[in-house]
Amino acid sequence: MSKHVLVVGSINVDYVIHTNRLPKLGETITGDSFAMNFGGKGVNQAVAIAKAGCEVKMLGAVGTDLSGDLALKNLADCGVDGSEVLRVDAPTGAAVITVCGGDNHIILDVGANGFVTPEVIDAKRDLFAWADILVMQYEIPTESVLAAAKLAHELGKTVVLNPAPVKDVDRELYRYIDLMIPNEFEAELITGIAPVDDASAREVIASLRGLGCKNAIVTLGKHGCAYGVEDDVHFAGIYEVVTVDTTAAGDSFIGGICSKICEGWELDRAVRYAGAVSAITVSRAGAAVSIPSADEVENFLKTHTIGEHRF
Ligand code: RIB
Repeated sequence: MSKHVLVVGSINVDYVIHTNRLPKLGETITGDSFAMNFGGKGVNQAVAIAKAGCEVKMLGAVGTDLSGDLALKNLADCGVDGSEVLRVDAPTGAAVITVCGGDNHIILDVGANGFVTPEVIDAKRDLFAWADILVMQYEIPTESVLAAAKLAHELGKTVVLNPAPVKDVDRELYRYIDLMIPNEFEAELITGIAPVDDASAREVIASLRGLGCKNAIVTLGKHGCAYGVEDDVHFAGIYEVVTVDTTAAGDSFIGGICSKICEGWELDRAVRYAGAVSAITVSRAGAAVSIPSADEVENFLKTHTIGEHRF
């Protein structure tokens, strides 16, 4: 029986344009390949988990605008149950994304995502009881992240947090986190330690545990990732692919991890699967749309080997 995953997080429409260079302040330049995509860290992670075969419900908020209609249809098309998503009197979250040389800059207007309040969390207790795993990010109010983590923890659920984009939070939150998954920049902002070599990456994991998180995986871009295994820290490299667009690289990795810890996989095995999900995602344009199905990941793994981790 597939496990139940609840994603409490953001639902955005991404307005994406590709460019060879970034404009200076006040300058207009010409880009290309404009696309309107479905995104939001919450949606991207929910879609990645659903495509890997888990049963996923999403709690979030969209506006009563056309973007909200389309975003909800996208969730359904991707196999995510969006029936608990609120419709509120605010514009659906919007992200303006420039992709330059495969990498991206994102400016977010949270819009309706700001309406996922602690009161909404309290009112949806049944959803938390249904879930085996709760997955969250910081594109909804952080008080709601705290309320949701606390509730899920009290109900004995596994709580996964992607602290992105980094916010100042009540440190009580960390006590409720089973698995924290920041990237290298978020990890440095939270711990004050830049993971620039194996020793500092180990310190980052120890520091996140010291804050109260049970365990952590730190993604390190092209250097792979570091993750806690009992009292030790293990490392994994990346799969070599041609990068088209890094949007949702981290989200798809997190989705891959969550889908496999649902199945009881050890982290050593789950990070290799999640690395493949992320590698395929960055080889395509867009956010949720670029995330592969389980079959695509299986085929990829037949022909690709993960590289050695090195800084
Ligand atoms: O992580 C990528 C996501 O960040 C985009 O889809 C965008 O919506 C922003 O939330």
